[in-house]
Amino acid sequence: MSLSHIVIIGAGQAGASAILELRAHGYEGKLTLVGDEPHLPYERPPLSKEVILTPDSARVEILSAEKLAALKVTLITGNGAERLDPEARLVELENGDTLGYDKLLLATGGAPRRLPMLDSLAQQVYTLRNLEDARKLITVFTAEKSIVLVGGGVIGLELASSASARGCRVTVLEQEPMVMKRCAPAALGEYLVGRHRAQGIDVRLSTGIHSAELQGEEVHLLLEDGQTLVADAVVYGIGIVPNVRLAITAGLEVDGAILVDEHCRSSHPDIYAAGDVAARRNGADRPRRIESWENANHQAAIFARHVLGQEPPPARAPWFWTDQLGINIQFVGDMAAAQWHLRGDMASGTDSAFTLIGVSNGTLVAGITVNQPREMRNLRKMVDKRVCFQPEQHLDVTRDLRKLA
Ligand code: FAD
Ligand code: APR
Repeated sequence: MSLSHIVIIGAGQAGASAILELRAHGYEGKLTLVGDEPHLPYERPPLSKEVILTPDSARVEILSAEKLAALKVTLITGNGAERLDPEARLVELENGDTLGYDKLLLATGGAPRRLPMLDSLAQQVYTLRNLEDARKLITVFTAEKSIVLVGGGVIGLELASSASARGCRVTVLEQEPMVMKRCAPAALGEYLVGRHRAQGIDVRLSTGIHSAELQGEEVHLLLEDGQTLVADAVVYGIGIVPNVRLAITAGLEVDGAILVDEHCRSSHPDIYAAGDVAARRNGADRPRRIESWENANHQAAIFARHVLGQEPPPARAPWFWTDQLGINIQFVGDMAAAQWHLRGDMASGTDSAFTLIGVSNGTLVAGITVNQPREMRNLRKMVDKRVCFQPEQHLDVTRDLRKLA
């Protein structure tokens, strides 16, 4: 089959990255990027961090209009894809226009999981996924405001940090006994709870909201543990739900996310999926979905090389990061590692810098650096090579990890 028109649905991280990969690897045909947002493609990680902390200088753009023109990309904004017909290879947009394609990438990302009890208040309740959400939060997080963050995950803790830096009084409510349980071991969670509390952030664990009501301009929350909280605003981040509507209506195999093979190909050979919306089949185990900036870029590269008949990029252990309270934390590998070992000093306060090493069956399978970004390069190598864990060397800070990698 000839390859003369590739259409990408979703002008976010994976969509923009796919454009760059396709052109960098020699695709010269027609390329259309379809976005439902009114913007040029932009990065989401700064939305909870720099965009709120330093709104005047924060930069989010991935592809400028000039770059898109130079790459000969047709960008459609503010006009999402509404329907897919895989047999006719047609996409219908919100405004009724249709686009034909030879290959299609679904890079539609995810949307905040909803909490109807809070949504029903209709006022003073916020979530964060896009630029408009972040711009609203800039106006909400003003000095002395009392802010409750529901969910002690990545969004909850990053926003707690940003709101606190802007002078707000902040409470975090996490229903689990530990924060960041989805993506970090308890040892790191405990460290973060300590850091946030030391910053004056009230972190409440093992409790959710029993009921919520508006009283004038205030939100009154009754917690499951019987306590009450009064807030000027409530922001919740309780996870995301992949945007799979198009895939379902097109009859693709979906199990909460679009199921893809190792080439990011869906159950239809002309349709691929990448990023937060895609879950890679994993033999007899549950399909694996990764929510990270790097995974969106990596899967976009896998897609681009596969449609062009080229070798995939080398497989690497997954990596992501978070910035909170001025602390840079990077993660590589399997966060469900059986044991975690400390390299360095965790207890020395705000400028503590240390590494956690994750081990399963005697093999180094994961690593976390806290304020030690340079060590991540070495840890990544060690995790990729699956080196045998040697505590007397790997945990001894006088030994250079670079030499052990
Ligand atoms: P997205 O970037 O969400 O792009 C999907 C796009 O598709 C969106 O523009 C969406 O509006 C659009 N779309 C949806 N449906 C349609 C349709 N029918 N038609 C057309 N367009 C459609 N990751 C990290 O590794 N480190 C971090 O520090 C970090 N911080 C983050 C902070 C925030 C506030 C957020 C929200 C995410 C953060 N992430 C971070 C996660 C990372 O940004 C995502 O994993 C990444 O953006 C996923 O890329 P994606 O292309 O799959 O989805
Ligand atoms: N009340 C309190 N906490 C809750 C509730 C609830 N009703 N429901 C879920 N939670 C908690 C979970 O236990 C978890 O700790 O919310 C947290 C959600 O954490 P994440 O899964 O990390 O989701 P979130 O923080 O919303 O981040 C969503 O944005 O920054 C990106 O990469 C990140 O892709 C991720 C996305």
